[in-house]
Amino acid sequence: MLSLSAHPADGAQRAQETQDGSVRARHLALRHLVKHDCGSCHGMRLTGGLGPPLTAVALADRPLQFIESMILRGRPGTAMPAWQGILSDADARWIAEMLKEEGFEE
Ligand code: HEC
Repeated sequence: MLSLSAHPADGAQRAQETQDGSVRARHLALRHLVKHDCGSCHGMRLTGGLGPPLTAVALADRPLQFIESMILRGRPGTAMPAWQGILSDADARWIAEMLKEEGFEE
């Protein structure tokens, strides 16, 4: 669903460009996932639904570490699923920072 393949690059500069491009592409894919997959429970604008709101205001008192581990491990006994295996640690950290610091914008 979120697979990104690295393209073979000629020189070091090209490799750097490709890597930057992959990171940007990954972040776009993560935004898409947050909107569609997280949004299915937390609301399309993340203002709450089955799950609580994930706006910057709502998450203001939640440490980044808490948000990251909530994403990776979920919360057993609730509908919040674990995303480990689908999302990497770096993905979860990026989403946590994006939600908390920028607020989700489509
Ligand atoms: C199947 C429904 C569902 C999906 C999909 C889902 N969540 Fe949740 N999420 C929940 C529920 C329900 C809770 C509340 C759990 C509880 O009672 O503590 C929750 C809680 C959370 C919390 C804790 C919020 C707080 O203030 O305590 C965060 C952060 C979170 N989800 C992030 C995400 C992210 C990011 C995604 C997508 C990668 C996601 N969730 C996908 C249902 C979902």
